[in-house]
Amino acid sequence: MPAVQSDRVPPDHALLDHHGDVEVADGLADFAVNVAEPEPPSWLVEVLRSAVSDLAHYPDPGPARSALATLHGVPAECVLVVAGAAEAFTLVARLPWRRPLVVHPQFTAPEAALRASGHPVERLLLSAEDGFRLGERVVGVPPDVDLVVVGNPTNPTSRLHRPDEVLALVRPGRTVLVDEAFMDVVEAPGAPRHSLTRRAASSPGLVVVRSLTKTFAIAGLRVGYVVADPPLIARLARLQPPWSVGSLATVAAVACAGPEGRAHASSVRDGLPGRLARLVRGLGDVGLEVVTPPRGPFVLARHDHADETRMLMRHRGFAVRRGDTFPGLGPEWLRVAARPPEMTDRLIDALRATLGAPTQEPR
Ligand SMILES: Cc1ncc(COP(=O)(O)O)c(C=O)c1O
Repeated sequence: MPAVQSDRVPPDHALLDHHGDVEVADGLADFAVNVAEPEPPSWLVEVLRSAVSDLAHYPDPGPARSALATLHGVPAECVLVVAGAAEAFTLVARLPWRRPLVVHPQFTAPEAALRASGHPVERLLLSAEDGFRLGERVVGVPPDVDLVVVGNPTNPTSRLHRPDEVLALVRPGRTVLVDEAFMDVVEAPGAPRHSLTRRAASSPGLVVVRSLTKTFAIAGLRVGYVVADPPLIARLARLQPPWSVGSLATVAAVACAGPEGRAHASSVRDGLPGRLARLVRGLGDVGLEVVTPPRGPFVLARHDHADETRMLMRHRGFAVRRGDTFPGLGPEWLRVAARPPEMTDRLIDALRATLGAPTQEPR
């Protein structure tokens, strides 16, 4: 398969629109959706509860914008608060690109948004053989591509690209959109080593999209933000529907950027390596080949009978995410969310029973 796929073969739109949430039926243990916890933290619920009485007023994103800008150490005019990262992809897709390209496998909403806006979309496919590294693959991007979309860390590969690998995509006349929806589990916003958020604030060719919905378990609230240079932020703001981000979402953004939010994100971050290590070890024990090292709150794993196993696991009460709807992956792939140890152990036991893998000595 060539690394860069042209747009000659139209994709299956139903696959691009498939997301993990439809795989989670009532009662199934959720390893399919990458939201950190089943409920938002209680301090955030309290903040939201007390903001309900203000719902008579139209929302003002100003305080959220300032709080998020302060969180990242960038000017407020470099931030646009949006109704989830998904809205950011839609706004960016409305700009008049000539030759957009999406680096895959990755979250499909940016490509779906570009296509919905009438753009043909090319794909740069990273390969399992080198752990889905960006590396030298960037040279495969045709020079006249004027928009590149890349995830970091990437869903579903859990690969964290080095900043210099991402920056190698930047060139005059091109915009690089980095989807950093999961970057808050990699590092604190105040001390970026991988995030390009600060850089985006002063680089016309770079846009970073962030989400608050995963780490704070507020996927239903819809809140995220874009960081870019002020002229691009102003263009995107003009495309945004009026009052797109509701007042509860803006209140949540202020709280997530504040002391309790930073402490919460830090504890999610601190807990993740342990969750991932247990999951990687367990999946390996039952015969799945895991893409390592995972840096998002999920792992990508391969098995010859992955798709059949996924279906059988549903009967045992577990939902894991199918891999074949991601461009560049096939039915031998599964994505599995990192959960607390007891939950992971139950998943591994069920997988062992499904796959007939030998029982391990107790750990
Ligand atoms: C990589 C990635 N980016 C963005 C999103 C969407 O985030 P939001 O809920 O903020 O729209 C998701 C959701 O699954 C995702 O996986």
